[in-house]
Amino acid sequence: MKTVMILNGPNLNLLGTREPQVYGSQTLADVQALCERACAANGFDLDFRQSNHEGELLDALHEAGRMHAAGTLAGVVLNAGAYTHTSVALHDAIKGTGVCLIELHISNVHAREEFRHHSYISPVAKAVMCGFGVNGYALAVAGLAGMQ
Ligand code: DQA
Repeated sequence: MKTVMILNGPNLNLLGTREPQVYGSQTLADVQALCERACAANGFDLDFRQSNHEGELLDALHEAGRMHAAGTLAGVVLNAGAYTHTSVALHDAIKGTGVCLIELHISNVHAREEFRHHSYISPVAKAVMCGFGVNGYALAVAGLAGMQ
């Protein structure tokens, strides 16, 4: 059984209380439970993580790259939070590892502030999902299943 790595970046640990009008009222634990169900339904194992530290996200992507090389990774779903709009290092890590990666945002970043319109992730992502709320995580897992 292949693994889906779901990687959440800065401030996503605050889901549930952080700007609920933008991100909804479900917590990160709720999102993890939703992802467990989506992975089970699609025959995947789940590796679910969150970090507020760019270097830890890089280390996780490198780990995903090793799983990819070993043939055990279905793909990565990355909500890089604000690092989406700033991180050349995440861009390079995705490119350098060759992982199949879905960029995900809970909100529709294109309907928000101008600084959220640019992504360093999109050019190296297989697909981009935004604006579906937390249900986007389940949709992304289903999308990865269709790519196997
Ligand atoms: C986000 C959108 C980003 O612009 C923001 O910095 C986040 C969350 C989203 O899921 O909608 O932290 O990635």
